[in-house]
Amino acid sequence: MKTLIRNASVVLPGSIENIDVLIENDSIALLNPPPEISADEVVDASGLWLIPGVIDDQVHFRDPGLTHKEDLTTGSRACAKGGITTFLEMPNTKPTTTTLEALEQKLAVAAEKCCVNFGFYIGATPDNIQVLKTAQRTPGIKIFIGSSTGSLLVDDQSALERIFAETSLPICAHCEDESTVRANSERLGGGKTWADHSQIRDHQAAIIATRRAVELAERHRHRFHVLHVSTAQEVEFLRTTSDLITAEACPHHLLFSIEDYDRLGSLVQMNPSIKTTADNEALWQGLLDGTIDLVATDHAPHTLEEKRQPYPKSPSGLPAVENSLALMLNEVNRGRCTLQQVVAWMCAAPAKVWNLHGKGRIQPGYDADLVLVDLNRKETILNEQQVTKSGWSPWHGVTLTGWPVRTWVLGQTVFQDGRIFDDVRGREVTFDR
Ligand code: DOR
Repeated sequence: MKTLIRNASVVLPGSIENIDVLIENDSIALLNPPPEISADEVVDASGLWLIPGVIDDQVHFRDPGLTHKEDLTTGSRACAKGGITTFLEMPNTKPTTTTLEALEQKLAVAAEKCCVNFGFYIGATPDNIQVLKTAQRTPGIKIFIGSSTGSLLVDDQSALERIFAETSLPICAHCEDESTVRANSERLGGGKTWADHSQIRDHQAAIIATRRAVELAERHRHRFHVLHVSTAQEVEFLRTTSDLITAEACPHHLLFSIEDYDRLGSLVQMNPSIKTTADNEALWQGLLDGTIDLVATDHAPHTLEEKRQPYPKSPSGLPAVENSLALMLNEVNRGRCTLQQVVAWMCAAPAKVWNLHGKGRIQPGYDADLVLVDLNRKETILNEQQVTKSGWSPWHGVTLTGWPVRTWVLGQTVFQDGRIFDDVRGREVTFDR
């Protein structure tokens, strides 16, 4: 099967060019093919931009065990709509992904259910070092240094030392210091309002844990990725770290602040918590100057019913995969960044950080995971149109300019003009390492 995409502005690694792109089966075959080339489908993409499929390296799809919130079918459909062609999923499911059996089970179910490409982290526990040493079909090890949703937590120094010393896969971590969070919570009587959430999971909790994890990684010469950076202090600290260390920011930490609790309450209750507008600015600065490598969602759906419980019963987390690219394209239109920067942060960098084979750029031989983007399209995010099983978005009612209009996964159209093609299946990611 050959598809010829004509007349798009194609975002290449170093430039944007008006060239045709030929897809053959699951790969990008040719850039600028000869005019007489034939194809099964010719797509006229005049006025549109062609970018590599987005790679989201931090999602929670709740499958198995918490599938009333999301599952691998609904989560991957939401990805297709949002222009995400590959996701890497977190281990805090039920059961947790902390054994080789659980990892293989997830991979087998994903192959049946997912319409985009997939990979799954292996979760660290205080005593599964053998698993962490032998796992291969995974991008890396996830450590919760500080508890969040679920029971995964490794706070003990000797367990952390062993993980950094004895394993070889890249490690990523949720960095919020457990004892700081507990002390804050006690001081505030457990917290009464959602604004208290940012006092409990405060700036100190984030920077203490990030420093601690980075110190371990640097000392053991271990590749380490800081998930969801939320504070100006972390950005400043990350400017001083070695190239073993990479980091990411999430749309909610870039775009929401504590000023939004009055309007949105638990809908913006997240771990790490949202911080101040000064932190928003510092995170943007960190992205723009290369201190922060990439943008990922931490898509963490809960039902509205669960979210409506009073604080602190309300769970932390918000869904975002179907809107993250549009949120960033809207920032391109606002002049905050360029389309090439968005492609670097959401496509090329996650492929590089996780050594994903054949992903993240438009180049012959690479996988035909592609997205056509209409930078002028205006659409309003509405809860009732969300594909995530949780059925809501904290950006409900927000109009964005710049949307994905067509998504290909391995050469197959999986989303086009509002329709998701449910017969498409993605593939397990593989690694260059
Ligand atoms: O707010 C969050 N919720 N942060 C996380 O890191 C985990 C997530 C979840 O799984 O609900």
